[in-house]
Amino acid sequence: MKTEEIKPGIYWVGAIDWDVRNFHGYLTQRGTTYNAYLIIDEKVTLIDTVKPNFSDKLISRIKQIIDPSKIDYIVSNHVEMDHSGSIPEIMKYAPNATIITCPKGDTGLKAHFKEDWNFKIVKTGDSVSLGKRSLEFFLTPMVHWPDNMIAYMPEEKILFSNDSLGQHYASSARFDDECPLDIVMEEAKKYYANIVLPYGKQVQKELDAAATLDIKMIAPSHGVIWRSHIDKIIPLYQKWCQNEIEKKAVIVYDTMWKSTEIMANSVLEVFEEKGYKVSLRNLQHNHISDIMTELIDTEYICVGSPTLNSTMMPSVAGFLTYMSGLAPKGRKAISFGSYGWGGKTMAEINAFFEKSGFDIVASEKLKYIPGEEDLEIFKKTLSEAIN
Ligand code: FEO
Repeated sequence: MKTEEIKPGIYWVGAIDWDVRNFHGYLTQRGTTYNAYLIIDEKVTLIDTVKPNFSDKLISRIKQIIDPSKIDYIVSNHVEMDHSGSIPEIMKYAPNATIITCPKGDTGLKAHFKEDWNFKIVKTGDSVSLGKRSLEFFLTPMVHWPDNMIAYMPEEKILFSNDSLGQHYASSARFDDECPLDIVMEEAKKYYANIVLPYGKQVQKELDAAATLDIKMIAPSHGVIWRSHIDKIIPLYQKWCQNEIEKKAVIVYDTMWKSTEIMANSVLEVFEEKGYKVSLRNLQHNHISDIMTELIDTEYICVGSPTLNSTMMPSVAGFLTYMSGLAPKGRKAISFGSYGWGGKTMAEINAFFEKSGFDIVASEKLKYIPGEEDLEIFKKTLSEAIN
């Protein structure tokens, strides 16, 4: 089992999860890694741990470098269990180690583990000497839990960014320049869309703090380490957290007897005629977490559903619930769908749009199977509603 020396005396000792495909509803089609970093200095320091069921991998990698009982500090940048879950295992080897965390991390770790370990509480601007090197801490609350923080090592110019700038991407390579860049960027975008999206303002504060630092390497807690493409990922984070949108439309729908699908294709035609980039996403064939990746820079979000048992299709309700939790802002929205009787589904879809603060520019339903004349009127209505 391989470790990787990312700088002299600083090692990646994490775990590669090749098989995970569901990360609380997020389709992790390329698996993920749980990155932990071991710093050999006067104070032997472990930055973050791994998911509990990968503890053996973490311990085994540490043992290749040093006896785990020699660990002095465990930096817990984030309480979520994919990073803190192996702290109890490490503490069995090093019961006198001190856990460095922020005030919310202290509360969270105690609530999770009910242990009276040694804690050192840090706040933004605090620096802890490890010997030849040091760590400076910046609290980054709600990127994406209240307890998040990041750590900067000025002597090596490394930012340990935890979840920020991560990707769910399992690879035997550790660095951004050892993997296909398009895949790394795609996974970084998907990660932002499905984890970080609700917290744009907080991300901006984190980027502002990072801009004051001389950074040559960014070591996140998932995916590859950035050393060659920092100049590409930081501007993308800036763009995403500033909610910059493009002339794009995403049409998301489900269908029973193809009537809503026929309407979805008409929506597609109207956007194409207006020069938009358009994606057509049938929820029977597309995962909601992949659709979210497309939504982070789209101007129009269009959602279609037939009426099933007096309500929308469960797949559409699931998508809308997921999307409204991730809270994309400042979008234009269109609802559409076929119905036989009743036809309250548009109001239900629109209620999600309203909750998200979207500007609803059109909401159209057609009875049973749309005829050519119905579709022409539908398209004309949409065409007039779209800028
Ligand atoms: Fe990778 Fe928020 O944990």
